[in-house]
Amino acid sequence: MELLKIENLTKVIKKKKILDDVSLTVNSGEIVGFLGPNGAGKTTTIKMIMGLFSITSGHISVCGHDIVTDFENAMKNIGGIVENPDLYKRLTGRQNLSYYASMYEGDSKKQIDDVVELVKMAARIDDKVKTYSLGMRQRVGLAQALLHRPKLLVLDEPTNGLDPIGIKELRDLLKYLSKNADVGVFVSSHLLSEMELMCDRIYIIDNGVVIGEKTIEQVKESDTEDIFSYSFITSDKEKTYEYFKGLEANCEQVNGGVTVVMKRDQIPSIIRDLVSMGIDLYAVNQSQRTLEQDFISMTTGTKTQIR
Ligand SMILES: Nc1ncnc2c1ncn2[C@@H]1O[C@H](COP(=O)(O)OP(=O)(O)OP(=O)(O)O)[C@@H](O)[C@H]1O
Ligand SMILES: [Mg+2]
Repeated sequence: MELLKIENLTKVIKKKKILDDVSLTVNSGEIVGFLGPNGAGKTTTIKMIMGLFSITSGHISVCGHDIVTDFENAMKNIGGIVENPDLYKRLTGRQNLSYYASMYEGDSKKQIDDVVELVKMAARIDDKVKTYSLGMRQRVGLAQALLHRPKLLVLDEPTNGLDPIGIKELRDLLKYLSKNADVGVFVSSHLLSEMELMCDRIYIIDNGVVIGEKTIEQVKESDTEDIFSYSFITSDKEKTYEYFKGLEANCEQVNGGVTVVMKRDQIPSIIRDLVSMGIDLYAVNQSQRTLEQDFISMTTGTKTQIR
């Protein structure tokens, strides 16, 4: 079942296009990642899903309910945290949850105990929120988002500020919810490595545009392509640069040399070419994969060029 459907969503703020024709879906039992660098438009999209930001054009529906024409039913099915959880610091975790639960019907005492157990906060739930660590606040925020048993959970960079153990616990919790409670999860992050471990499918957003959609199997395949950034220090920077341009490589002249994004197995033949062209090589350095290279490796097939 389609829990979230976004169609041709566009957001314009002060004449600037923040989101451009974004379309995506989340099905029940699925964890879908929303991957993009700072400023890509992740939070803006999530705020629009939660009804916190108006829609310039396009449609969003939650469990078949349009969030504009059927807001109440859409919101009944959605739970979320945008940026940081919104908690009253002078109240305890439980008081926060009670206050929030009072806005919904049902057996709130039992619901609260259940969600507190689920997020493993039972030991500290009666302490004031101001005494919590960031990770504890995230957990109570998650408990709050789960309180009315939504079908769709929307989380904006929920691992921010969590330690590795907290990140793993959150990951396990989201997996548990998606597989056992049939909840669909839409979760944003700027880290591909994190998305790989958590998601079934990811959408990549850059500059307000969804530039790719991959299943986790496809992500893993593209990972084995071994794409890195290399810097070549040679006796003739100009000629080296021209050579890479001729290969249509994503290259750049920098102080002292040329940097290029390449698959690792292309390097030996490049070195042979350069030597046969009479260019002396002083150094070839491989740098750590950056987020940019991750995006490149995800959005291109065997090609080495991005834009
Ligand atoms: N209220 C606003 N007024 C003007 N511009 C805004 C507003 N909110 C967001 N933007 C702009 O929209 C773009 C997308 O911002 P957004 O917060 O959605 O990015 P993000 O992907 O969540 O980034 P981050 O990883 O840093 O959280 C940015 O260029 C930002 O400056
Ligand atoms: Mg954001």
